[in-house]
Amino acid sequence: MLEITELKKSFAEPSGSRVDILNIPRFQMGSGEQVVLRGESGCGKTTLLHTISGLVRVDSGSIQLDGMELTRFSESARDRIRAAKLGYVFQTFNLLPAFTALENVKLGMTFSRKSVNTGRAIELLEKVGLKDRLHYLPKQLSVGQQQRVAVARALANKPRLLLADEPTANVDPANQTRIIQLIRDVCTDEGVAILLVTHSDDVARQFSRVVRFETINLVTKQTTAPESEL
Ligand SMILES: Nc1ncnc2c1ncn2[C@@H]1O[C@H](COP(=O)(O)OP(=O)(O)OP(=O)(O)O)[C@@H](O)[C@H]1O
Ligand SMILES: [Mg+2]
Repeated sequence: MLEITELKKSFAEPSGSRVDILNIPRFQMGSGEQVVLRGESGCGKTTLLHTISGLVRVDSGSIQLDGMELTRFSESARDRIRAAKLGYVFQTFNLLPAFTALENVKLGMTFSRKSVNTGRAIELLEKVGLKDRLHYLPKQLSVGQQQRVAVARALANKPRLLLADEPTANVDPANQTRIIQLIRDVCTDEGVAILLVTHSDDVARQFSRVVRFETINLVTKQTTAPESEL
């Protein structure tokens, strides 16, 4: 379902040097597979999720989703694929403050070409346990409830893959375990694969496949001098 080969990404530092961040020979995920990604702060986990979602362009290599080569598409095509095939849950949930829980989930649908389906939005909010909070604004919801709205929104378009970047970093440990279980259950139910970044041992224990970032990425922090200095 997801197949990454020979992926490379570097960034320009403020000094002008380039720093290699990603050099992933091969990383694969099967359909509906649920995977945790762990690794030190700054090692490139978020960058990897951004390259998969097309928010960051790769230097070279291949990212295939259901056999589609994502790196070759134009920016607008990548936006469409992201909306149709990928769901994204952030550490800070990015809910729109002026809209209710239900409206936020329906807005997730307007980004794709599928039409807005209120019934489906309500069904998803029910699945994440927020049936009685449909018309609440984000500020009227607890942090854990806001995160569950964000999960429902990310699943609004029935994606193939949910990318979750430390989704429970702002939630207390007891709720963290519950929210992760809920994300897993809803994704199992919907047939959605998960690639989830976490720093938490408790969260990692909930998954059967845990990937250490260092084992898929060959970069060992080294800086290339700017060309003028070579
Ligand atoms: N746009 C950018 N320009 C330059 N460097 C960047 C850019 N984005 C990320 N980096 C660098 O890439 C490295 C990896 O960042 P990334 O956010 O992927 O780390 P991470 O593994 O997600 O860390 P954390 O666990 O703290 O979230 C960092 O050293 C960061 O400074
Ligand atoms: Mg990160």
